[in-house]
Amino acid sequence: MFSRSLLGLLALVGSVAAQTYTNCDPLNKTCPADPALGTEHTWQFNTTLDDKIWNVTNGEITTASNGTMFQIKEKLQSPTIESTFYIFFGIVESHVQMASGAGVVSSVVLESDDLDEIDWEWVGYNTSGVQSNYYGKGNTTSYDRAGYHYVPNAATEFHNYTTHWTHEKLEWWIDGELVRTLLYEDAVDGRNYPQTPSTVRYGIWPGGDPSESTGTIEWAGGEINYTAGPYTMIVEKVRVHDFHTGKSYEYTNHSGDWQSIKVVSGNSTAEVELTKAPAKTLAEKWADLSTGAKIGIYCGAAAFVVGSAGAFVLFFLNQRKKGRLEHALEDTKFSAERTEMQNFQTDWRQSEWKNNGYRPVQ
Ligand SMILES: *[C@@H]1O[C@H](CO)[C@@H](O)[C@H](O)[C@H]1NC(C)=O
Ligand SMILES: *[C@@H]1O[C@H](CO)[C@@H](O)[C@H](O)[C@H]1NC(C)=O
Ligand SMILES: *[C@@H]1O[C@H](CO)[C@@H](O)[C@H](O)[C@H]1NC(C)=O
Ligand SMILES: *[C@@H]1O[C@H](CO)[C@@H](O)[C@H](O)[C@H]1NC(C)=O
Ligand SMILES: *[C@@H]1O[C@H](CO)[C@@H](O)[C@H](O)[C@H]1NC(C)=O
Ligand SMILES: *[C@@H]1O[C@H](CO)[C@@H](O)[C@H](O)[C@H]1NC(C)=O
Ligand SMILES: *[C@@H]1O[C@H](CO)[C@@H](O)[C@H](O)[C@H]1NC(C)=O
Ligand SMILES: *[C@@H]1O[C@H](CO)[C@@H](O)[C@H](O)[C@H]1NC(C)=O
Ligand SMILES: *[C@@H]1O[C@H](CO)[C@@H](O)[C@H](O)[C@H]1NC(C)=O
Ligand SMILES: *[C@@H]1O[C@H](CO)[C@@H](O)[C@H](O)[C@H]1NC(C)=O
Repeated sequence: MFSRSLLGLLALVGSVAAQTYTNCDPLNKTCPADPALGTEHTWQFNTTLDDKIWNVTNGEITTASNGTMFQIKEKLQSPTIESTFYIFFGIVESHVQMASGAGVVSSVVLESDDLDEIDWEWVGYNTSGVQSNYYGKGNTTSYDRAGYHYVPNAATEFHNYTTHWTHEKLEWWIDGELVRTLLYEDAVDGRNYPQTPSTVRYGIWPGGDPSESTGTIEWAGGEINYTAGPYTMIVEKVRVHDFHTGKSYEYTNHSGDWQSIKVVSGNSTAEVELTKAPAKTLAEKWADLSTGAKIGIYCGAAAFVVGSAGAFVLFFLNQRKKGRLEHALEDTKFSAERTEMQNFQTDWRQSEWKNNGYRPVQ
């Protein structure tokens, strides 16, 4: 068995290899402002995700009836999505069913531009556990940050993995139970404490691919067997609460301290997108209607049916010259009426329908 610190080292290697990159490091240069979420929102992941909010940054994802599937079907696939928004402290609640299988890693990552990072990671050989982790400014010199937490049936059930993040402390919760707390001062007096605006990323990757380092493959539980796939992580729903409201977040200097982050006021692009009326299905539009409106539509539909029936009768009346309908309607004898009706219908089909088509009202 691995020692805890070796496991930590391996976890570190794996984590850093996964989805931890930045396009512009504000510690070295001046970067564009980070668009904020600036609000709270819950996404049901069993519907096509809005690509203005969730960007597929690698591979393809699939929508299932219970969530979004992240699958490894073939060698080196690692579908990943990333929020286009950033949160500056807040809550990220992810309902996840991990992928099982040696060499397969499922993950939820909060990642900032200067590589502050908060993780949940599921290593597929252990379907009753999850690892928690964090990094400050991409500092990878310590190997004892990973936490190991028991979760029953993590690969066959959705569980609620929540991080609660403030400038003072970081908490990891599983199904409503607090499993780990990191205080600002306990992360090398804050220097390793995640404290800058972060995106939210979901993904799966083959840590056990033969191209990975031996350490990563061992951390991932051995080499992945692609033939035994596909390997599937499912995200059922996600709630994100940004603790700041505003349009964007700016680094005012190169310190990477949370005090240096300026919150630019205004409505965030994400919030505007979220409050924009989504394209609704007919069933959803119906469900949204008031009882009065529904009654109105029922009446309208009834009127339409009555109107159609009326039109139909008019059509028959138009045939009055033939004398048949009138005769049928006036006839008190049911059998005669029916006979006349049948005769009429036969005539009607032959003459009107075939020659002229259906002309309800002339
Ligand atoms: C930013 O600078 C630090 C040292 O100041 C360096 O370690 C890091 O690699 C640099 N990052 C980028 C993205 O250039
Ligand atoms: C989405 O991800 C792709 C691939 O990483 C990237 O090129 C693109 O700029 C991203 N789009 C947004 C809106 O972030
Ligand atoms: C998505 O999940 C929600 C909540 O469980 C459910 O009400 C809804 O019917 C599901 N939608 C689809 C398309 O399966
Ligand atoms: C899986 O991980 C959890 C949390 O570390 C641990 O309690 C459990 O014993 C592990 N199970 C196996 C089979 O390694
Ligand atoms: C990186 O973290 C280690 C402890 O985990 C700490 O000793 C070291 O000072 C940190 N490096 C920087 C540049 O903060
Ligand atoms: C979600 O649905 C998939 C099939 O579409 C199934 O394999 C998986 O077990 C389901 N997960 C839960 C927790 O119901
Ligand atoms: C998920 O866990 C968080 C933290 O305990 C809790 O606040 C939230 O209500 C839970 N979500 C659901 C749907 O139970
Ligand atoms: C990989 O999985 C396939 C299908 O389940 C199985 O037949 C094969 O023996 C496995 N290979 C190894 C090396 O375990
Ligand atoms: C960065 O800005 C913050 C807030 O204005 C300030 O407290 C801090 O001293 C600055 N740090 C550096 C290194 O300039
Ligand atoms: C922000 O949104 C609110 C409500 O949607 C709107 O009333 C307000 O004018 C918007 N503010 C800006 C600066 O666009």
